[in-house]
Amino acid sequence: MNPQEVAPETLAAQGLGEADPFSGGLAPVINLSTNYEQQPDGSYRQGRVYTRADNPTSEHAEQLLAALEGGGLEDGCACALFGSGMAAATAVFQSLLPGDHVLVSRVLYWGVRKWLAEFALTWGLDVEFTDTCDLAAVAAAIRPGRTRLLWVETPANPMWEITDLAAACDLAHAAGIRVAVDNTVATPVLTRPFESGADLVVHSATKYLNGHGDVLAGAVLTARRDPFWERIRSWRRNAGAMPGPFEAWLLQRGMRTLFLRVHRASQTALEIATRFRGHPALTAVLYPGLPDHPGHEIAARQMHGGFGGMLSIRVAGGAGPARDVLAAVRVFKRATSLGGVESLIEHRRGAEGPSSPVPDDLLRLSIGIEAPGDLIADLEAALEKGAPR
Ligand SMILES: Cc1ncc(COP(=O)(O)O)c(C=O)c1O
Repeated sequence: MNPQEVAPETLAAQGLGEADPFSGGLAPVINLSTNYEQQPDGSYRQGRVYTRADNPTSEHAEQLLAALEGGGLEDGCACALFGSGMAAATAVFQSLLPGDHVLVSRVLYWGVRKWLAEFALTWGLDVEFTDTCDLAAVAAAIRPGRTRLLWVETPANPMWEITDLAAACDLAHAAGIRVAVDNTVATPVLTRPFESGADLVVHSATKYLNGHGDVLAGAVLTARRDPFWERIRSWRRNAGAMPGPFEAWLLQRGMRTLFLRVHRASQTALEIATRFRGHPALTAVLYPGLPDHPGHEIAARQMHGGFGGMLSIRVAGGAGPARDVLAAVRVFKRATSLGGVESLIEHRRGAEGPSSPVPDDLLRLSIGIEAPGDLIADLEAALEKGAPR
């Protein structure tokens, strides 16, 4: 199969379509070796020396993800797996230099915000949070010659705000700024940030890419193999941020059903958002697929085939009723994380702690692949029990 000639769904389903060259097996082998034999002349058969730098099982998952994210690029893109989404995200920041000014989405996954708040200063980075949905605000925050990175998450946790990637990339590039996009929530199924001009794409592969709640992994992808990319790869190797081969193997297996899972979750999320919009026990349903979401028009342009499986609800009456709704669900699982096959519900502010900017009445829903009717009935019953009318 020529990967250039088939749709991304086909590439994903067939795990790049190559049988194992030794056995002919359709499922790839897992290579657990930590080291590789050196030849008498000092060379290595395939250039690999030690697994902290290179591993064939990781490379297989990397090539598959690169094909899914970078299919639209002339030369494709390069991918490096990491031991977690946080290891991937922080590798990008840690590859910057002291004194660099960084612009970061105001609304974003709290773990990234927390790491920046705790460590960016000691790293010498000058981090500024800005509303990346407001391009005039981004333009005003740029410090010519000092701003080196714009970090965007879209849809952004947990309000699901939408940043116009093409416009943000144009703006940043005009000032010589690199753009990194956390594409965990949209996945390459719905959005391919490189096609909008992004320089780097980051994933928590723990979420949709693996999709089964049993792997912790992350990834950074680059549109070009430049010196900054070499610093990221060098950081991974020398800081020891590589995932284990078993995680990489599970990840490639998870990605085989990525399209089915993401499409199904997106359809059900839209159904749930539409069904509960205007519900008397709620003050808001936050979902970019709803026509009254402030980012809907951009999302409709930028996300292809769905608006993702993540939504949030704001419960009338505040934190108490929100926690009552949380306690009352029977099908949704009360748990953190997102992007798995089972639907999850979480009181985000409770998970993030007292410094969280998330409203106390907000419950975050990660929609899985269950029968939509079961999820709707569960939420309906929980709202009936938990929230005041
Ligand atoms: C959008 C986003 N980025 C990054 C991360 C961090 O990923 P991990 O938990 O794999 O370290 C998460 C985790 O929830 C996330 O939701």
